[in-house]
Amino acid sequence: MTQAKPPHALKIWRIDDKDIAHLRMDTQTLAQAAVCLRAGGLVAFPTETVYGLGADARNAEAIARLFVAKGRPSDNPLIVHVSSVAEAECIVSQIQDVEQRLMALFWPGALTIVMPVRAGAVCPAVIANGTRVAVRVPAHPVALELLRVAGIPIAAPSANRSGRPSPTCVQHVREDLNDRIDGIVDAGEAWMGIESTVVEVDGDQTVHVLRTGAVTAEMLIAAGFTVAHTALPRHPVAEMSTAPRAPGTKYKHYAPKGKLCVVEGAPRTVHRYIQKRVDDDASAGLRTAVLTFADQENIAAYRADMVIFLGPRGEVAPAAQRLYGALRACDSADIACIYTEATERTGMGAAYMDRLLRAASYDCVCI
Ligand code: TXA
Ligand code: MG
Repeated sequence: MTQAKPPHALKIWRIDDKDIAHLRMDTQTLAQAAVCLRAGGLVAFPTETVYGLGADARNAEAIARLFVAKGRPSDNPLIVHVSSVAEAECIVSQIQDVEQRLMALFWPGALTIVMPVRAGAVCPAVIANGTRVAVRVPAHPVALELLRVAGIPIAAPSANRSGRPSPTCVQHVREDLNDRIDGIVDAGEAWMGIESTVVEVDGDQTVHVLRTGAVTAEMLIAAGFTVAHTALPRHPVAEMSTAPRAPGTKYKHYAPKGKLCVVEGAPRTVHRYIQKRVDDDASAGLRTAVLTFADQENIAAYRADMVIFLGPRGEVAPAAQRLYGALRACDSADIACIYTEATERTGMGAAYMDRLLRAASYDCVCI
């Protein structure tokens, strides 16, 4: 008789909100998660951007499992997370002055820097058999303490199945990966809701933005860096003539199951346009949702199966924190057609619109 396989027991390590607020770290609980990581386990954990799915960056078997768990293409390398600049120095072979300044100004934080890898420091799959490694020191105190206690470089892509919106809370991680991973460190909501800025510095000292994020081009320029944008394609990815330098940005990303349309224009006109499209869809028997910056009065004025408030108009940060959760809520409610309003494309708005337009497969109506 064959032995029945024991049910998969997912460990949840809960960190108290009060501890986080007082920067009191529950080192004992985090030590259990760290032991799991050191033993080759897959552990999701919070960062200030989104939840990451961690694995020992030096352990080929763990990294192979991570790619399978996410359903991630093997040509898409992973960000390696460490707790200090000194640890970053152990995995890269050379740090230029500009990179040193970036680290000093923005680490810990939502900035990932792609640099030449030190031979043998991480297993080849982490860097997709390339020569450069993406490194970040996250600012979330729980992530930092977990990395410190684990004492190893942790490769951590966003903790979602490939192509799904990144997770901003444990429920999202469980929706996508429940049976595929070993544990989750639960510290409530991720703070920003949008993934880190990814940059690479050229020999000519120019900072290339490969993926926009909370460390904005404006912030980099204000700090005296020369910045080149290589991030925001305004056209469908299929039409891109050259491969992007951050391979992940070439894949269809952040897609809800329903069809998402972004509408740009004056608020009243946008409201009228969206309501008309919603009414047409509803007449065709389709379930509809609106994600809106409208004030409470206008939200009530929208007639759709679901209306989600993104935050006050003109404020990108609250909307960024809510966007992926809102897209997931639409999926759970089987919404077929989703409409939302555009924001400014400056500052954090550049990253917000990048993610939104990807989710919409660049379906954007300007009226
Ligand atoms: O905020 C974040 O960055 C989150 C948290 C968990 O840290 N992580 C995250 O990882 O968003 P992921 O795997 O979902 O996205 C990483 C991006 C991808 O676009 C990938 O192609 C790019 O970084 N990347 C990673 N390593 C690279 C490398 N060596 N060269 C160029 N791009 C790289
Ligand atoms: Mg991702």
